[in-house]
Amino acid sequence: MTNSAVVLADTAAYAAAVEEATRAAAAYYATGESTLDDDAYDRLVRRIAAYEQEHPHEMLDASPTGRVAGGAASGDVPHTVPMLSLDNVFSADQFVTWTASLERRIGRPVAAWSVEPKLDGLAVAARYRAGRLEQLITRGDGTAGEDVSHAIGTVVGLPEQLAEPVTIELRGEILMTTEQFEQANAVRTEHGGAPFANPRNGAAGTLRAKDRAYTVEMTFFAYGALPLPDSGELTDTLAELPHSEVLAYVARLGVHTAADTDVAPRTVTTVEEVQSRVEEVAALRASLPFGIDGIVIKADLAADQREAGSGSRAPRWAIAYKLPAVEKVTRLLGVEWNVGRTGIIAPRAVLEPVEIDGSTVGYATLHNPADITRRDLRLGDRVMVYKAGDIIPRIEAPVAHLRTGDEKSIDFPAACPQCGSEIDTSEQRWRCVRGRDCRLVASISYAAGRDQLDIEGLGATRVVQLVDAGLVADFADLFTLDREQLLGLERMGETSTDNLLAAIDTARTQPLSRVFCALGVRGTGRSMSRRIARYFADMDRIRAADAEELQRVDGIGKEKAAGVVAELVELAPLIEKLVAAGVNMTEPGATPPPEPGEESVAAAAADGEGGALPLDGMTVVVTGAMTGVLEKLSRNEMNELIERAGGKSSSSVSKRTSLLVAGEKAGSKRTKAEDLGVRIAAPDEFAELVAGFLPAEA
Ligand code: IVH
Repeated sequence: MTNSAVVLADTAAYAAAVEEATRAAAAYYATGESTLDDDAYDRLVRRIAAYEQEHPHEMLDASPTGRVAGGAASGDVPHTVPMLSLDNVFSADQFVTWTASLERRIGRPVAAWSVEPKLDGLAVAARYRAGRLEQLITRGDGTAGEDVSHAIGTVVGLPEQLAEPVTIELRGEILMTTEQFEQANAVRTEHGGAPFANPRNGAAGTLRAKDRAYTVEMTFFAYGALPLPDSGELTDTLAELPHSEVLAYVARLGVHTAADTDVAPRTVTTVEEVQSRVEEVAALRASLPFGIDGIVIKADLAADQREAGSGSRAPRWAIAYKLPAVEKVTRLLGVEWNVGRTGIIAPRAVLEPVEIDGSTVGYATLHNPADITRRDLRLGDRVMVYKAGDIIPRIEAPVAHLRTGDEKSIDFPAACPQCGSEIDTSEQRWRCVRGRDCRLVASISYAAGRDQLDIEGLGATRVVQLVDAGLVADFADLFTLDREQLLGLERMGETSTDNLLAAIDTARTQPLSRVFCALGVRGTGRSMSRRIARYFADMDRIRAADAEELQRVDGIGKEKAAGVVAELVELAPLIEKLVAAGVNMTEPGATPPPEPGEESVAAAAADGEGGALPLDGMTVVVTGAMTGVLEKLSRNEMNELIERAGGKSSSSVSKRTSLLVAGEKAGSKRTKAEDLGVRIAAPDEFAELVAGFLPAEA
């Protein structure tokens, strides 16, 4: 393959490389599924450019270096000023060489640099007239784009009305955040559609789609502004303002920029400072709630930009410092079928391990059997895998032209791989006909686990015994077990029986958050269960809530809300059994939400009365090993403690973190907190702060 050669040897190799790049770009823009990963594409284009430098007269019209990158489909709305692309550098050395050539060109040092994230989405131009958003246009081929104004209203950060009645064109990137992407895929698969391979494809597909039965959200980040023909005096202002001030102005107009993110644009004066910000942004990449594929560095002053000018493809005053690709090609080795606690049978791809952005990826989600069929995946296929930040690794597409003919079709299970029962295939997601009962032992063990009901002495072996003896058919039955029944089991002496009964009795008084978590409602793990329990304060209110009300809980979107409501209906008999067995159904310390028209007790307390909690309004992260009174607490228990004391627990440090509890062997989170100036407390200090809220045994 041309792509693996280091230098292009001759005209034929050059032509083949151009053809391969064109094919990859065309496939990418047509279907969102490229035949090359980003790294490979970039390498190929660099080789083509190197060849063209040596043989300029041989340059082919189709070369990807000669036009706005990608060969995107063009539309029919002309751009006032071409929407250019950016040249790339891939290392500190290349960046230094680029700055030197820019400074040579303008004949002086660049006065200031703006260092900002390179957002991984689609470029759009948003035209505002007298403050009203009138037209949204894609970049297209750079000179004309497609009118996608139908998307107005579905893009977070792109208001329909600006704070001032100005006429202006804003340029920026539309993307899907991690959350919007997961949400979009949940909605799409529920509607029988194919999941998006990555957030960028999700944004591209969504932006173009006109008559979908559902809407999914996207987010806009502005990175520039231009005057329109009737912008009036703003025309001169925009021509003179430094880029950083243009961005600040755009934000004041009410438009979203990257300013409120951890990778906010920074203005610095030296190349060393640029470099250190580049490193910071690269380190933050994995924890960002949206994708970036590099860092854009721009000369900040209008005069520097003007004197540097632009080429036909890219401006000379800006450069993209590319980060390693988050898409890689690897091999699909197998497919595992796992049965979840609720009986859902989910396929998972086993991959030849591949390193993507610093972590090794060995598995990827495959959603459902229909998805495997739709994408015609085969064992042995070379597949493009995408992994960024918190996104579960996923297979984008098989690279069909790399097939050898030895690939094998993927077998679907004919019976439940867990219990051998029939499979209900009537929905996209296959489910064992026994539903939750299929994983009875697993669901009871989960319910009894340390982070749920915390029933000591009830391991999986014991649960198997209980199920086999017909003593329990769900975890509510645990609460009505009697001494005789337990003594009748093998290897159950008097002491273990009494201990187990005592542990079960204690479990009856667990807070609602843990009881709710024990139910194993899909999509509600430990922290979501705590949020739900704290929001509603008791089980009756949770059960009475409709999907709309559930969405008031932080992190619950439309689809999840509907899922929770449906599952709670399904779980009603179990919940009623638990109530009848005297299991606690309230969350200590939580205030119920106000009934419509009623002022909330929490709001009244915040208005002045009632004791403020020690962590009120604080976001707390815990890292390292806890010591002293906190030593025995699991991470879940630490998070519970934080929330009881009024705080919000989080797993990653950002500038929004109020406090980092750093125990022994605290690593990168501590360094990051130090860099960001986040307050750090040792376990003992923290224990003192929340002394009134520690669990009884701590
Ligand atoms: S400035 C004339 N700033 O990257 C300057 N572009 O690979 C052109 N992009 O077409 C763009 N983040 O779609 C700029 N902070 C940022 C950006 C950014 C992402 C995109 C943009 C551009 C592409 C070039």
